[in-house]
Amino acid sequence: SAAASTGTAAPDGTRRDFMFLATGAGLAVGVGAVAWPFVASMAPDAATIAAGAPIDVDLTPITDGQIVNVFWRGKLIFVRKLTEKEVTDMKAIPEGQLSDPAPFGARVKKGHDQWLVVYGNCTHLGCVPIGHQGNFEGWACPCHGSQFDAVGRVRRGPAPINLPIPPYSFQTDAKIRIGEEAKAAA
Ligand code: FES
Repeated sequence: SAAASTGTAAPDGTRRDFMFLATGAGLAVGVGAVAWPFVASMAPDAATIAAGAPIDVDLTPITDGQIVNVFWRGKLIFVRKLTEKEVTDMKAIPEGQLSDPAPFGARVKKGHDQWLVVYGNCTHLGCVPIGHQGNFEGWACPCHGSQFDAVGRVRRGPAPINLPIPPYSFQTDAKIRIGEEAKAAA
């Protein structure tokens, strides 16, 4: 194009980004469609969601290694049950290797090592990262190649920070409430 011949990269770059974003959106819809019947069965009614009220998620049906999509306040949230191996591997990563250092214990709730709850949009430009790509234990973003480990920490940019953790608490060992932190111990 004329833009390229003058050495201006922006128009081509913009078009390329748009194509990647479109691809990412397609994947997101696909993943959402697969998970929807399951999520719908445990979601509160639409009015409750619209009000931004906390939602309860039954963890019982979620199996080792599975990632489930949940929506709260219009935001995609991943609820992931780590395998024992993933827990071991994630604890073994030295904080010095991380661009946004966070110890394992800061990514899960005390006493619930196998459960991760994170927002499901890439911290770069918001695409939906895809879990379990090849041998990689975490997520890979289809848009610009960011990678996150199995507890949502950045392992490759351009994502600048880890996947954020929404407020949530364990009601029982098998039920979490998203949107509400545990009450402070008396
Ligand atoms: Fe750019 Fe994820 S949106 S790497």
